[in-house]
Amino acid sequence: MDSTTGLMGHFITFEGTEGCGKTTQIIRAAAHLQQRGFTIVPTREPGGCELANRIRAILLDPNSRHMVPSTELLLYAAARAQHIDEVIRPALQQGKIVLCDRFCDATLAYQGYGRQLPLDAIHWLNHFACGDIVPHLTLWLDLPLNLGLERAQERNASQQLENEQRFEQESLNFHQRVQNGYEQLRQQHPRRIQRISAEGSVDQVAHSIATCLDRYFSKV
Ligand code: TMP
Repeated sequence: MDSTTGLMGHFITFEGTEGCGKTTQIIRAAAHLQQRGFTIVPTREPGGCELANRIRAILLDPNSRHMVPSTELLLYAAARAQHIDEVIRPALQQGKIVLCDRFCDATLAYQGYGRQLPLDAIHWLNHFACGDIVPHLTLWLDLPLNLGLERAQERNASQQLENEQRFEQESLNFHQRVQNGYEQLRQQHPRRIQRISAEGSVDQVAHSIATCLDRYFSKV
């Protein structure tokens, strides 16, 4: 049980820049943990519940490119507040393991380091949206930018995700700042945020993640 929140479950988040392979790896991580007998709730941000998915559609639509950064930040926070209330907190109360594709670190990396909005305002908003919910473990899938953007474009074309391409269309400088942001966050939270190299094959990355998860669960 978490001594600060009294919640029994475990909250594990996955982060990384575009095309780093989070979605595939969360499926693999969920299978690994299910085999060990845990009950898994896989979810994602922005989204995870009906109302937050509607906010996701606005945020990621290429037609939203005139959205100003502060609107973007507030919409991510709004989606998160709903997602926590409907999905994450109830699952943690029931002792489940929540695997979440992106969370507050994404807002710091993208809206803070990427868009260069004030980090203290983002910390405040994250806390306002999340209350006492903080990830126990964050796996940062680190992949060289060029490789990730290529993979993301292939994925969008093959899965017909044209409606979700707003961030892939950002400049390379923006993505570089996001990548640097994740490195800064890792240095600030060296215990919680574990860097996983995402350069190898799907199996190799899945193995690194499984090792990291096994290490985490051997200590709790
Ligand atoms: P996804 O591609 O992992 O589904 O994420 C959707 C996009 O949303 C991705 O480009 C990163 C962006 N994002 C933010 O900018 N801030 C956030 O707080 C979150 C959760 C995602």
